[in-house]
Amino acid sequence: STVYLNGDWIAAEHAKVSVFDRGFLFADGIYEVVPVYSGKPFLLERHLARLYRSLREIGISVADDAFWHELVHDLIKRNNYGDANGLIYMQVTRGAEASRTHLPGPDLKPTVFATINPLALHWDQPAPVRITLLEDIRWLRCDIKSISLLGNILLKQQAAAVGVIEPILHRDGLITEGPASNFFAVRNGALYTAPKNHLILPGISRDWVIELAAEAGIPVHEEPFKVADLPQLDELFLTSSSREVQPVGQIDDIIIGDGQCGPVTAALIEAFHASKR
Ligand code: PDD
Repeated sequence: STVYLNGDWIAAEHAKVSVFDRGFLFADGIYEVVPVYSGKPFLLERHLARLYRSLREIGISVADDAFWHELVHDLIKRNNYGDANGLIYMQVTRGAEASRTHLPGPDLKPTVFATINPLALHWDQPAPVRITLLEDIRWLRCDIKSISLLGNILLKQQAAAVGVIEPILHRDGLITEGPASNFFAVRNGALYTAPKNHLILPGISRDWVIELAAEAGIPVHEEPFKVADLPQLDELFLTSSSREVQPVGQIDDIIIGDGQCGPVTAALIEAFHASKR
């Protein structure tokens, strides 16, 4: 594939960065993931707005809106994704320095990298998955889409060790999110999901599902639900750019509802698919 690196379009295997890049040494950088459906980036403005916010929060400034739109457009074109589904990955690190020092120097030139990979899409209702409950051990700025993902990786490894795709995380008994997804509970026909604050990534799919729910007349409460409430939930699902709306049938030994995809989740999966066309 052809990737973008600092102004150049090059074959992926020839893309190289300095070992003194602060992304390599400190994971000092930001990333964004944008789904592409039939050659069209989905909710691009929202993904870019989140990218700009993350960059602003850590004090990196990179080009303007026109640059990013052109980058996304060219990435799709150069890799022949005109009719295909893909997942764009974009990353900005603070740049390379002469030596390793924690405090970044002034005038660094950010390293900008972007690539696109195939996205395997399910067009019918995905089967409910089993997940596991874990304590959220990550830092207190989960609202920044940082490439420092060690906490997320440790949690993913723990989930994989018990054979599940994603853990559901809690802090002091309140559900936050997953290491790569947001969670929604359904109880008595209403949705509950953690509010947007420093404890979660403000998921683009999360916000989209909230809007779809509002259109469908489903009440949404942006309030965290409790670990103690998990056995009483009617339905549970997760959202992310790669999984869209994924029903959850079981958390460890707790069966959610009857373990199948419930009616509210099914309606939102349908609404999500319809919104892509
Ligand atoms: N993950 N929460 C976290 C911690 C995430 O990393 C992600 C996305 C989400 C869902 O956000 P969105 O709906 O905007 O994809 C929530 C991406 C896909 C990733 O890390 O690859």
